[in-house]
Amino acid sequence: MTKSLRLGIAGLGTVGGGVLDILAKHGALVAARAGVKIEVVAVSARDRSKKRGHDLSALTWYEDPVKLAADPNVDVFIELIGGEGNPAKAAVEVALNSKKHVITANKALLAHHGAALAKLAEAQGVALNFEASVAGGIPIIKTLREGLAGNRVGKLFGIMNGTCNYILTKMANEGRSFADVLKEAQALGYAEADPTFDVGGFDTAHKLAVITSLAFGSQVNLAAIDIEGIEAITLEDIRNASEMGYKIKLLGVAVASEEGIEQRVHPTLVPKGSPVSDTDGVFNAVVVKGDFVGDLMLEGRGAGAHPTASAVLSDVVDIARGNFRPAFGVPAAELRPYKAAPQKAHEGGYYVALELHDKPGAVAAVARILADEKISIESIVQRGKKEKDTPRATAPFILITHDTVETAMRAALSRIERDGHVASHPRMIRIERL
Ligand code: HSE
Repeated sequence: MTKSLRLGIAGLGTVGGGVLDILAKHGALVAARAGVKIEVVAVSARDRSKKRGHDLSALTWYEDPVKLAADPNVDVFIELIGGEGNPAKAAVEVALNSKKHVITANKALLAHHGAALAKLAEAQGVALNFEASVAGGIPIIKTLREGLAGNRVGKLFGIMNGTCNYILTKMANEGRSFADVLKEAQALGYAEADPTFDVGGFDTAHKLAVITSLAFGSQVNLAAIDIEGIEAITLEDIRNASEMGYKIKLLGVAVASEEGIEQRVHPTLVPKGSPVSDTDGVFNAVVVKGDFVGDLMLEGRGAGAHPTASAVLSDVVDIARGNFRPAFGVPAAELRPYKAAPQKAHEGGYYVALELHDKPGAVAAVARILADEKISIESIVQRGKKEKDTPRATAPFILITHDTVETAMRAALSRIERDGHVASHPRMIRIERL
């Protein structure tokens, strides 16, 4: 095997280090599968002196990833810098314009500029591959682009952020605080450089925008996504949900119908035992509903150095084999204009947490307001009042509703608040019966 495919890696953080680890261990295996030797020839990272556990002295070192992207000795530019803007965007554009194949794990970049970059890659006759951008080690991109090519997808949903799932799982199983577990997720290399992207739901939204486009053959449309993160979820919510037969997960959901496409990201109560409810810790799971294949669920580690690097290596081998095709499954010019479904309020059940003033008639008043809005209650938990509540005693009052519409739910909650029955703003979480 004399030919080689020469890689330039921009960004030697968690994932970049993982790529070096896999090549160090499986260089021969990957080369046998690729049909050519795989060589890292150039790298770019901020801190040259940092110990990375690999001898990088023979590689060309660039401070500026854009310069690496233009290096004529590089065949494949691997962008692991992150962020929707420069230098990642400029570097990817320079690489594509220099007719280099590009591999990126950058979901933010793809969610904002995916269609334009795909068009550029097509025009230059090179690959734009991004398996590592969604759900870490799960081959969801390849599955949608190739494995399900004979299906029309009507719906997909899933857990696509390892950090959030890790936080929610540890809060549930170990009773630990949100902030404490987030710190641990950061130390384990799961979180984004700015973890508000994780906990605020934006990272899930970036990933959802990418796979929605692939699944439905439509333009990438991040702006169309309703986004709500997990910051407001409390230990009590998780415990209450559990007692009532549910787990709380941050879901990304996309549905295509005659009316158009609906995309949303929000914390969700999922019944225990339903798909994705047992996907815990850093694991992600994506469920795809195809018209011929039926329901399909892929589960695996959604973040971390090695699972994500494993996805990068699959793109490397595809490029070496010449197995690349339009980035979003169809030529970028043929992606259908995004048609948003009319704003439809969630129809389903709701979890509602009220901090109710503990006085005669409060529960009856709440029940009356719900009845007025034709909302029927599935179950209720009322806990004893808290000792520390002063000056007016309150008691947590938790209820799960039968299916209703969001407008009715919101109207009821604002009336409950307006009429002075609660000491704090009511919390409401959607329930999906998957
Ligand atoms: N911060 C991301 C996560 C990394 O937690 O899922 C993988 O995209």
